[in-house]
Amino acid sequence: MKKLIFIFSFLISISLSAQNPNYAEDVAGILFNSCTSCHHSGGIAPFSLMTYQEAANSVSQMVIAIIAGEMPPWPPDTNYQRYSHERILTLSDINTLLDWNNSGTPQGNMNLAPVTPNYIPGAILPNPNFTLSLPTYTSNAQNEDEYVCFRLSTNFSTAKYIKAVEIIPGNPGIVHHVLAYIDTGSGGATITQDCMGVEGNLFAGYTPGAEPTIFPNGANVKMGVKLPVGADIIVQMHYPKGSAGMVDSTKINFFFYPSGTTGVREVYTDPLLGLWTFYIPANATPTFTTQFPPNNGVLTSDFSILSVFPHMHLIGEEITSYAVTPSNDTIPFERINNWDFEWQGFYNFKNILKVPAGSRMYAKAKYNNTSSNPNNPNNPPQMVIPGVATTDEMFLVFFQYLPYQQGDENLNLDSLLSVGIEDKPSFNKLSIFPNPTDDKFQVQLPFKGELSLKILNTEGKIVKEMQVNPYDWISLKDLPNGTYLLYGEKDKTIYSAKIIKQ
Ligand code: HEC
Repeated sequence: MKKLIFIFSFLISISLSAQNPNYAEDVAGILFNSCTSCHHSGGIAPFSLMTYQEAANSVSQMVIAIIAGEMPPWPPDTNYQRYSHERILTLSDINTLLDWNNSGTPQGNMNLAPVTPNYIPGAILPNPNFTLSLPTYTSNAQNEDEYVCFRLSTNFSTAKYIKAVEIIPGNPGIVHHVLAYIDTGSGGATITQDCMGVEGNLFAGYTPGAEPTIFPNGANVKMGVKLPVGADIIVQMHYPKGSAGMVDSTKINFFFYPSGTTGVREVYTDPLLGLWTFYIPANATPTFTTQFPPNNGVLTSDFSILSVFPHMHLIGEEITSYAVTPSNDTIPFERINNWDFEWQGFYNFKNILKVPAGSRMYAKAKYNNTSSNPNNPNNPPQMVIPGVATTDEMFLVFFQYLPYQQGDENLNLDSLLSVGIEDKPSFNKLSIFPNPTDDKFQVQLPFKGELSLKILNTEGKIVKEMQVNPYDWISLKDLPNGTYLLYGEKDKTIYSAKIIKQ
């Protein structure tokens, strides 16, 4: 009997702590793992989440940004393909934050809190072989973001194989992203304003919170990017609006295989999928597709793909890429349902992907050149054509790839990730109608069966909770006018939408 009581009280305490999470034991760890790498003073995010008080003050905003799938920033759709080092909260983390807000953000016993991380600006990987420093540059980004390219020469007398690259922002508070390209062309200006990057040989990127780029290397495998003699490095910097007058000098640390190393497999980075012959009329929302090899060709040998990097500019809305094998299997590369120019990067597959000979690769990109697109740089909308300027567009999908060798698909690029990953949800928009509404709205579910739905107010607190079936009408009659966030969850997918009652 004693034992039973013990088990019983143990169960109660589990369910109580799950529903009444406190900062020290439940919340601090989530924020330290997933948020504070950007949300600390001096970091890229506009406010800090390092202390109890800061977290409690921002909790409504946090819950809403998380459920809307905006934070932490991670554009690829997890239902389509999975990557190493995904920046996504687990479902239970999300629900912990929601419950913490709902129960009034209790602090708990701070002696039980995890150690507060210490963010020291600077390199993660020690002892680089070579460092390129960008000149000290003062941002001009007053009311609009600034994109500027720098050309730097390397001056090596022999070709090098890059094993790893670390991009270190000079001023982490204003460096929103960095793209680094190898250019073997005939030179050019050292600084180009209004530059969105160049076409070929993108080999590394940085977004806040990103880890260094490390190519697979170990006893049995050595992969790297070749840096040819006389190559220049072109670096595109993105400084966000509001950073005007602030100074940056970003550095790139290179790690080479020792000279004389044999058997380094060269990793190529190319926009295998891309289109330069399109135009987007004002007020149009066209979708374009492209294929590799062109002219309906097929791959003539097997390829191993390490990562994918989709790229559009400001009016891009969706971008998907995949391969179809000779046996008609689809190999998904990436799908981004809400393109955000601010958050782009290389997505490394968990294991190297083998794309067999005979396959075709495809990409599809949708643009929104209407005034309903808040990122449209033209108001009123103008016709847009491909190009490198901010107001031009691009449709490119870069791949880091190399010829396939037996066993490549077993190489795990994700050795640092552990159990629990499957708990990471995918984010989708919930279709609701009508919106705004004066009373009822209907939910259109893309599946059969029930969805458990919560209605949150602007404080991120749950005001209603229910099970809904497809095409159910839900009444907001008993709630005051205002904006609400709908948060549905089913099969590790989060469906969310904002609805206005007026
Ligand atoms: C990779 C960097 C990064 C990480 C990680 C990150 N944020 Fe942010 N966050 C930002 C930036 C930058 C902004 C400013 C708005 C923007 O540029 O999107 C922001 C804005 C916000 C906002 C303001 C509302 C909004 O949606 O813009 C909230 C709330 C927020 N973050 C919460 C969080 C929480 C909670 C986490 C962790 C679960 C988190 N963020 C993780 C970079 C990050």
